[in-house]
Amino acid sequence: MKRLDFFSESLKNLKEVGTVTRSSRYLCRNITDQIDFNNADVIVELGAGDGVISEKLLDKMKANSKLIVFEINEVFCSQLEEIKDPRFFFYKKSAEELTNVLKEQGVNHVDYVVSAIPFTVVPDEIAKDIVEQCYKSLKVGGKYIQVHYSLVMKNLYKRAFGNIKVNFILKNLPPAFLLISRKTEEVAPDRG
Ligand SMILES: C[S@@+](CC[C@H](N)C(=O)[O-])C[C@H]1O[C@@H](n2cnc3c(N)ncnc32)[C@H](O)[C@@H]1O
Repeated sequence: MKRLDFFSESLKNLKEVGTVTRSSRYLCRNITDQIDFNNADVIVELGAGDGVISEKLLDKMKANSKLIVFEINEVFCSQLEEIKDPRFFFYKKSAEELTNVLKEQGVNHVDYVVSAIPFTVVPDEIAKDIVEQCYKSLKVGGKYIQVHYSLVMKNLYKRAFGNIKVNFILKNLPPAFLLISRKTEEVAPDRG
């Protein structure tokens, strides 16, 4: 999908998409740099848009890995349906369906979650539910990698994972933050 198409589609659905430009190559590279592809059997991507990050992940993934992708915007979904790769499992479903989809896929543990869902505009209860599902799905040592354009949601991940690292990517429109948390314990302690 061309940049201009992404721009017009996101303007029509700004509340759902959360930005007007797809992730830049610098942001995509910062995401792929967080991943040890030799030890990434299952990667989940939430809010894939037109697949700009998905394609970069597929470029680096092993032949027998899986990329399980969620997107809800109709136009972006038809772009994602064009990706023909046996490792690419696309679901035209909300990320709220994560646990059900993983069961359907026979996946017990996820190595990495990459999310660009604009949680700033998602109701609190839904955001918390999706992040909790991600926590439960990840293996111990697995990483949750979230794209944002501000740090207002930082505590959502800090509370769930107990740790967070923040990278700032200036070369993106708008400049972006990558929030990275690691799952360190099987059961999340009650962090209040
Ligand atoms: C900020 S855009 C990111 C698009 C793309 N990943 C990129 O980096 O350019 C966020 C995407 O999340 C999608 N989205 C929003 N809520 C969602 C949900 N509950 N489940 C799955 N996708 C969702 C939007 O439709 C949009 O395509």
